[in-house]
Amino acid sequence: GSQSRATLPTFPIRNLQRLENYTMNSPTLLWKGHTVLVDLDWVKQGVIAPRQGQHVWDAHHVKLPHMQSPHASRSGQPRWEAIKQALRKLTPSSSIGDIQTAIMSYNSSNRDKWTFDALFYYGKNLHKMDDNLHLVIPKMAKLATELPSLIQRSIPLLRHNQNQAITLSQQQISCLLANAFFCTFPHRNDTSPGSEYASYPTINFSSLFGGRNDPSKLSGKAEKLRAIFHYFDTVTSEEKDPACKADGLVTFERVSVPASELPKWKSEKKLLKNLHVSADGSIEKEGTGMLQVDFASKFIGGGVLKSGLVQEEILFLMSPELILARLFTEKLDDHECVRITGPQMYSLTSGYSRSFSWTGPYMDRTKRDVWKRRFRQIVAIDALDFKNPLEQYSRENITRELNKAFVGFCGQPKTAIATGNWGCGAFRGDPKLKALLQLMAAAVVDRDVAYFTFGNTHLANELQKMHDILTQRKVTVGKLYELLKDYCKHYERTRTPTDLYRFIRDNIGHNSSSL
Ligand code: AR6
Repeated sequence: GSQSRATLPTFPIRNLQRLENYTMNSPTLLWKGHTVLVDLDWVKQGVIAPRQGQHVWDAHHVKLPHMQSPHASRSGQPRWEAIKQALRKLTPSSSIGDIQTAIMSYNSSNRDKWTFDALFYYGKNLHKMDDNLHLVIPKMAKLATELPSLIQRSIPLLRHNQNQAITLSQQQISCLLANAFFCTFPHRNDTSPGSEYASYPTINFSSLFGGRNDPSKLSGKAEKLRAIFHYFDTVTSEEKDPACKADGLVTFERVSVPASELPKWKSEKKLLKNLHVSADGSIEKEGTGMLQVDFASKFIGGGVLKSGLVQEEILFLMSPELILARLFTEKLDDHECVRITGPQMYSLTSGYSRSFSWTGPYMDRTKRDVWKRRFRQIVAIDALDFKNPLEQYSRENITRELNKAFVGFCGQPKTAIATGNWGCGAFRGDPKLKALLQLMAAAVVDRDVAYFTFGNTHLANELQKMHDILTQRKVTVGKLYELLKDYCKHYERTRTPTDLYRFIRDNIGHNSSSL
């Protein structure tokens, strides 16, 4: 039609707060519940060395491949010896078949379960850009076997209902991920209900290598492998540009907010904060330095080690250090999230889902904080997965999503939040509703929002218009909550999907009791 498609004026993105703006107050890493795997006194002098400590084998810590279960049978070769022996055999002339042989040699109980079709497919369809794979594999193998010298104390599990954090060096992370690639982590292959790690994501990469059951997924997995191998190539090569070196730290923190500290939504008096909304740009790029939302699965990383390829998986492939969260993060509960500070970006990608491809290296020059963590912060929050999208318009579900967003957005420093259609793709939420819920949670914690609609200009305009009205009319979070509850009631009564924003505009002047 003749209608203008021009977007409405929006709050300028350059005026939003990013981590670089908070360099004055350096955060302390010394608190109860924070395990630091490097020696912090050394970090201050520019040297990154593993912190000494105890290794324990119990239900509270990651079981590392070089540790021996106290119950292990005395007969036979210790598993770590077998791993080292198998990995040492990988040389520049090794084939994909040799990788399979190595991995299966110490995972023989999975002989009938694991396949390597995707890895072979990748090998057969090697792109010119990846033709140094034969050099990368032995370097990865060597990195994996350095585990005992690189990690010198136990890594706690970030369990249900705990506020706990872990800080590691990027080198330690790469070593642990190399072990994950070679499937060395003990007790982590059985994911059946009731098994020891049933409530944790998987970490061994075996599920990424297979694909017999679904040949259509092979090319997507091959693209994932390109990103993974590029990451390992980068971290095992001499980097000339000091700004791009993977020689800093990364912090993984599980945040668990008790019910008594969650907002009382209907009595929240705060007004909405600034909103920058745009149909162009992405959370990952334009949002760097803000709190970047990961549209997560409650098992962090979702399908990154299988065939999933939407926002969370793509983010984890661009920045594979994030995959390490799967080693120690128990599945998230409604009042929990994971915040990751300092990960580096390694790859450029294009496309989405079936059209996803790895397009090349990304030279990450993002500056770092005093603890050598890049000014990048990701928060994993899992939306509700609506089998039936009609379920989302209930007070209970709205409150759950508000609380989840609140848990993700609380904390310091109060950078802007970079987000978008959280829960509105694979999880079938309504972006108009989810955008408001995120704005309400951001308002309660005093943070501005940058909202990327992923190309949807109509949504960008609608959201901007709604935000303009709500702020002009000084609608509080509590009032908006009441309006949403009214919408739910209206929805239940009529079962006709009246447009949410229209409903709000029409009812903004009413007292909720009169509806
Ligand atoms: N920047 C901004 N918006 C984006 C981006 C991006 N980079 N990528 C996607 N969108 P989805 P969910 C928009 O389906 O519904 C994973 O498997 C786009 O409009 O990734 O919360 C997880 O592990 C898209 O439709 O998130 C979970 O299991 C919408 O955001 C599950 O999916 C939602 O993206 C989470 O599903």
